[in-house]
Amino acid sequence: METTMLKDALTVIQERKSVRNYTGESVSKKDIEKILHAAMAAPAAVHLTPWKYVVVSEKVMLKKLSAHLPHAKMLQHAGTGIVVCVSPAEAASQSEIYAILDGACASENILLAAEALGLGAVWTALYPNKELMNFVRNELDIPQNVIPLNLIPIGYPTGEDKPQKKYDAKNIHWDVW
Ligand SMILES: Cc1cc2nc3c(=O)[nH]c(=O)nc-3n(C[C@H](O)[C@H](O)[C@H](O)COP(=O)(O)O)c2cc1C
Repeated sequence: METTMLKDALTVIQERKSVRNYTGESVSKKDIEKILHAAMAAPAAVHLTPWKYVVVSEKVMLKKLSAHLPHAKMLQHAGTGIVVCVSPAEAASQSEIYAILDGACASENILLAAEALGLGAVWTALYPNKELMNFVRNELDIPQNVIPLNLIPIGYPTGEDKPQKKYDAKNIHWDVW
């Protein structure tokens, strides 16, 4: 099934939430492609685009990854997982920090695009945990000089996960701190 975008951008931002409960229904390749277009529309330092994406849809691999990743157990019930990777050698100043920042921008676009399409997603951390990064590198043949930043399950939400209110006026300083 392919979904269509219905909500305006600010509603999507407010309604995005980490989705950890999935129906198990598979996600169409068209929707994954829309999400990847959104990822690569993110800002990137000096207009360099050091990001790479590994799209995992095979059930056996999704199960294997979820079995070994302590904070990504929900992956086995999602239709797809996207590993957002970055290549520091291709980033501004060949800097790991710029690469990570670029990857984080792309990741947020993925989370928002999923919400816009009526899908659910959640950032599950790989970086900076070397053990998790190496495990995913080995399983998915990711080169040593590429950093797997996170693994984002994408699937149909059961509806159990709700947006959390984080707005707090105390965190804003108008004009001066
Ligand atoms: C850098 C980063 C790492 C995260 N790692 C995990 C993770 O490993 N597993 C997980 O379930 N959620 C993870 N999250 C999601 C956060 O727990 C979630 O964003 C936070 O609780 C706020 O909830 P919300 O996304 O629904 O607003 C991570 C989020 C970020 C930004």
